[in-house]
Amino acid sequence: MEQMTDNRQPILELRHISKTFRTDDGREVRAVRDANLAVYPGESVALVGESGCGKSTVARMVTRLISPTEGEIILCGRDISKLEGKGLRDLYRDIQMVFQDPYSVFSPRMSVGTFLGEGLVHHGIMNRAQATEEAKTLLALVELPTELMDRMPHQLSGGQLQRVVVARAVSIRPKVLLLDEATSALDVSVQKQVLALLMRLRKELELTFVFIGHDLAVVRAIADRIAVMYAGMIVEELGSEDLTKARHPYTQRLLESVFSVHDRTNQKVIRVEDMSMAVNANALPGCPFRPRCPRAMDECGTACPALRELEPGHRAACPAV
Ligand SMILES: Nc1ncnc2c1ncn2[C@@H]1O[C@H](COP(=O)(O)OP(=O)(O)OP(=O)(O)O)[C@@H](O)[C@H]1O
Ligand SMILES: [Mg+2]
Repeated sequence: MEQMTDNRQPILELRHISKTFRTDDGREVRAVRDANLAVYPGESVALVGESGCGKSTVARMVTRLISPTEGEIILCGRDISKLEGKGLRDLYRDIQMVFQDPYSVFSPRMSVGTFLGEGLVHHGIMNRAQATEEAKTLLALVELPTELMDRMPHQLSGGQLQRVVVARAVSIRPKVLLLDEATSALDVSVQKQVLALLMRLRKELELTFVFIGHDLAVVRAIADRIAVMYAGMIVEELGSEDLTKARHPYTQRLLESVFSVHDRTNQKVIRVEDMSMAVNANALPGCPFRPRCPRAMDECGTACPALRELEPGHRAACPAV
């Protein structure tokens, strides 16, 4: 698998991207630090890590809702990190996103049918009448009945609404679909159905996924590879089947800290423990995990470790492993 990917060009590549926010009181928040990641065509890559580690900031940079402070983002062979105006608009033919809250993208006064056809009209792919016809096909694609065409968003369930958002995201046949906690707000049974739908669409439409999530069981099911973030940095990258081979002390800690809870339907959910200490860790020089690391060495306090290949498809940013 890895040898195969070695010969191909990544469809999406983050090259040393960083994002520093300045808060109202003048503080700097280094939300993402020197992140590097390559995603190959057809792959599903997940970003995991505790709350506040920078996952959504990466997502917002990749979809250019915000600009990186430093670094390049290469999508389909071109640097999109500085795009503006029409260039930005064209970007959304290649990449689409689905966020946690479908209401954030849905206009409350727009019917499902109009919403579904909007992207096609906006990008000049179809006229309004053609887009309305296509909307029916899109509903079927996400396993919803045609009757929903004239409904308004508040007349749909959360699961139905998220399916509609997914349908619109894929309507213009993007190459990459970025999903930021796209199923996290759904009931577990609904979540399972939407995940199954996503996996089917990925195959049928030959999509590449960047999937962000908290639930390691979900992430493992949907991703081929997992990139673990800590305090703004990608600290380990490995195959989703190989989680037990994790070598970075933070990933190991993360895996130890997952705990099981039982929801209403009595199904097992595995969540990433929220360790809020990380929030300030990115202000430190050297490795941000150092204060909590059982294997910290002197050198960890000075230089930020870079990702290093341990074996094909497995990289970690730690001098101790
Ligand atoms: N616009 C902003 N201004 C200042 N700080 C910000 C801004 N956006 C994000 N941050 C900070 O950047 C860090 C990373 O936030 P981000 O939303 O990327 O985390 P996340 O990994 O997506 O967390 P969650 O799992 O809770 O969604 C956090 O410390 C957050 O408070
Ligand atoms: Mg987030």
